[in-house]
Amino acid sequence: MKALVTTELDPLTLELRSVPDPRPRPDEALIEVHATALNRADLLLAVRRPVGSPIGLDVVGTVLRPASDGSGPPAGARVVGLADNDAWAELAAVRTDRLTGIPDGVCDTTAVTLPVAGLTALYALQRAGWLLGRRTLVTGASGGVGRIAVQLALAAGSEVTAWVGSPARGAGLADFGAQVVTGYDEPPTAPVDILVDSVGGEVFSTGYQLLRRGGVATVFGNTVRSELRLPADWGHARPGVRIEYLFLLDEVTRRDVPADLTLLLGLVAAGKLAAEPGLLTPWSDPQHAVDALRSREINGKIVLSM
Ligand SMILES: NC(=O)c1ccc[n+]([C@@H]2O[C@H](COP(=O)([O-])OP(=O)(O)OC[C@H]3O[C@@H](n4cnc5c(N)ncnc54)[C@H](OP(=O)(O)O)[C@@H]3O)[C@@H](O)[C@H]2O)c1
Repeated sequence: MKALVTTELDPLTLELRSVPDPRPRPDEALIEVHATALNRADLLLAVRRPVGSPIGLDVVGTVLRPASDGSGPPAGARVVGLADNDAWAELAAVRTDRLTGIPDGVCDTTAVTLPVAGLTALYALQRAGWLLGRRTLVTGASGGVGRIAVQLALAAGSEVTAWVGSPARGAGLADFGAQVVTGYDEPPTAPVDILVDSVGGEVFSTGYQLLRRGGVATVFGNTVRSELRLPADWGHARPGVRIEYLFLLDEVTRRDVPADLTLLLGLVAAGKLAAEPGLLTPWSDPQHAVDALRSREINGKIVLSM
């Protein structure tokens, strides 16, 4: 089969090469891949592995061969799941406890935005606890995870402040019902109960200082790659404050991923979650996708169709 593998790590470069077909374990289904998505996490994971490694977590396709242990969807089912870093390929072997069927009415290119971005947003908010009537600040709200986190928090009854870099990056977020704060020179000032942060650096520090007593900061990224600093009165000024860190690939080991993906797909099917890609591009041009992610011009997810 053909798969995209890394040919250089800095800058990250990918090439379509012939590689051996995957050999599924008993708990894995063999999927003919229709679409995959690019995550900032894919770039981080790619450079930690040797040149020539495959890449890709998000996968949508059709089950060619169900898992031999009898688990998971049957042959012919249209499915979405979380692959083991090898989804940018014609075929992928995917654990059935990371896979679920896609309902009619949700297209492949929308479903594929959900495994990494949707589950990360869902679990970050679940870690924060009760959302109804509480104010949530989502940083990086223009990004793949951020746009979904904004919508899920609103759907759960939270008042949401979405912090983005520019008016163009905030497009559509006010229509969901969020209060949009634009630019890093004029940060939000209203106190919040929940901070959902993936930007890090000064953005995290500013958001943290807005937390009310008993508030929760859920952190799942540090996109600016700088140290996180807490104010000197970090705890006693905010009694009961809690900081949670979420790492999706660890979190999924304790979660019912098929059920959680089904929840997200149901919200999309019901028109309560807009998760269509910000950019749809063929997988034969992966560099376009990588460059687009780096340029920060795409609102939401970048999807590659096979
Ligand atoms: N822990 C986990 O398991 C996990 C899971 C998923 C993602 N993540 C991490 O979470 C972060 C967000 O993921 P994502 O997929 O939503 O990424 P994304 O689509 O690239 O979004 C990142 C957002 O961060 C904002 N940003 C602020 N300063 C930036 C800078 N210096 N460079 C780039 N972006 C900057 C951008 O918003 P503006 O352009 O509006 O400023 C952008 O919308 C990433 O760091 C990713 O690696 C971690």
